[in-house]
Amino acid sequence: MSSLSIQHLLGLQNVPKEDIALILDSTDSFLEILERPIKKVPTLQGKTVVNLFFENSTRTRISFELAERRLSADVVNFAASSSSVKKGETLLDTARNIEAMKVDMVVMRHSAAGAGHFLSERCTSKFINAGDGAHEHPTQALLDMCTIRQKHGTLEGLNVCIIGDIAHSRVARSNIYGLLSMGANVAVCGPPSMFPYDLEKLGVRMFTDIDQALQFSDVINVLRIQLERDAGAAFPSLREYHNAFGITRRRLDALGRDITVLHPGPINRGVEIESEVADGPYSVILPQVTNGVAIRMAVLFLIGTRAE
Ligand code: NCD
Repeated sequence: MSSLSIQHLLGLQNVPKEDIALILDSTDSFLEILERPIKKVPTLQGKTVVNLFFENSTRTRISFELAERRLSADVVNFAASSSSVKKGETLLDTARNIEAMKVDMVVMRHSAAGAGHFLSERCTSKFINAGDGAHEHPTQALLDMCTIRQKHGTLEGLNVCIIGDIAHSRVARSNIYGLLSMGANVAVCGPPSMFPYDLEKLGVRMFTDIDQALQFSDVINVLRIQLERDAGAAFPSLREYHNAFGITRRRLDALGRDITVLHPGPINRGVEIESEVADGPYSVILPQVTNGVAIRMAVLFLIGTRAE
């Protein structure tokens, strides 16, 4: 298959395995472009992409912008904090006005779950979800899967555990959908107060003991404690969270075998992960960031050049 079945990338729930595999397979050629002295190809020349960010972001926005520019797209950045949204404009009016300027693709981050779905049904541009509330963050999960595949060769049959604040995490949700589609065995670990109410429906194993979770895992994906979303209310103190669930070098060394550590960033050093782990031999955190640009190039290319 050389073309996606989906028109927009709004999430990984219900995205066919073939589409995920196509994005992951296409990423290799974009990684190669990133190694060249001149990191630019004319693939999206003449296409206009708007980065519509209603929520703060550093790495995801820069990663998308680099991906767009390396594909030669025209790029417009929109930050809600300096826009007419502050004057009371609705989301739909903002999007329709931007679209009236003849935009091809919209990369959107919004605090409301489903914001991308809502607009994609009412606008003609192609939408890529860069994070919608606690719902989905598909390009993050794709870059996580790409990084795991790089190290392990496959996702099929691998044991992957997502650790931390699952309930607030769009990264967890997209990873669960994507990894299960690709044949991985998926587990989550954290205090039960951080599990979403519908966890049982997601088809994952649950651990509340970190050492049992580590025993199970070939790969762990460590999530940030999202203090801005009041995640701190789910346990007594950050120190207690660190003692019960923090990923330390001692815990990993005790396994006596290799284990791969991912983290989507930004990291709270000393809370969910120790610096010695984040910067140590088990970590693939910086390769994740490099792969993020290539994955976004692949997604922009496949969505942006897809025949109707
Ligand atoms: C994540 C996000 O914003 O959802 N980070 C990211 O995209 N780099 C995770 C987080 O904020 O903890």
